[in-house]
Amino acid sequence: MKNTVLTFKEAKKRNEKLTLLTAYDYTTAKIIDSSGVNGILVGDSLGTVALGYENTLSVTMDDMIHHSRAVSRAVKNSLLITDMPFMSYQTSTYDAIKNAGRLVKEGFCNAVKLEGGSDVIDSIKGIVKAQIPVMGHLGLTPQSINKFGGYKVQGKNDSEIKSLIEDAKRLEDAGVFSIVLECIPLEVTKLIDEAISIPTIGIGSGMNTTGQILVYSDMLGMFKDFKAKFVKYYANLDASMNLAIQNYIKDVNEENFPLIEHSYSLSEINYDISEGFYGSNNNN
Ligand code: KIV
Repeated sequence: MKNTVLTFKEAKKRNEKLTLLTAYDYTTAKIIDSSGVNGILVGDSLGTVALGYENTLSVTMDDMIHHSRAVSRAVKNSLLITDMPFMSYQTSTYDAIKNAGRLVKEGFCNAVKLEGGSDVIDSIKGIVKAQIPVMGHLGLTPQSINKFGGYKVQGKNDSEIKSLIEDAKRLEDAGVFSIVLECIPLEVTKLIDEAISIPTIGIGSGMNTTGQILVYSDMLGMFKDFKAKFVKYYANLDASMNLAIQNYIKDVNEENFPLIEHSYSLSEINYDISEGFYGSNNNN
């Protein structure tokens, strides 16, 4: 059954968990969607794990639309959320609404996600007023790494904790349907989750959230440029892929691939090449 923003809201009321993963392309999204997650996020982590940038700051609206469209063609059951990239909503409320609209109209997502608290309240209100569901994102917001001075756990002192809780309440008042909490100590996450009635989705924020999200290539052990403490490898696809590719190279070199069963043959259409123009019996 298709997950909607209502499924998300209900989950918190019923004390049920939500699971989300990222996806950036059709084939992967199809596998993830059919596995039964509640939501798929076309995250701007696209920039690092799929496009090879050092951070997410260079990701453009065109990048997000391109990948959101691809993922949308595969998604049948999950709620599809697409990230608003850096500078697509910070410049003005007008830009925020216009770009959120593009992600829905051209990227075929069900909802958008944007990072930040009090600073982005007007943009969130505008997008929600345009009937587009918004997911918030607090804590370690990667689009602010230059302000934070790196990828650092957030909410480690009284004033940070207070402002995280206030921001979460303001986001809820502005109409977001859920909030991603990234790299926040689990005790603080609990306070935030208890302060609001909408679901919280954690990444690196412990177990006290309604749901969890991970970057799919991290949890499948494909992306190993670095490993954050919060990542659990559920597979080592890098090793499996390497082995498979090495076996392919070996097979080709040893003439074990392709074999007859991997080849098309004229015998399948009962055509005897020796009788035809190219045949050895051809006297013309
Ligand atoms: O871009 C992303 O993948 C994200 C998740 C890590 C929440 O924002």
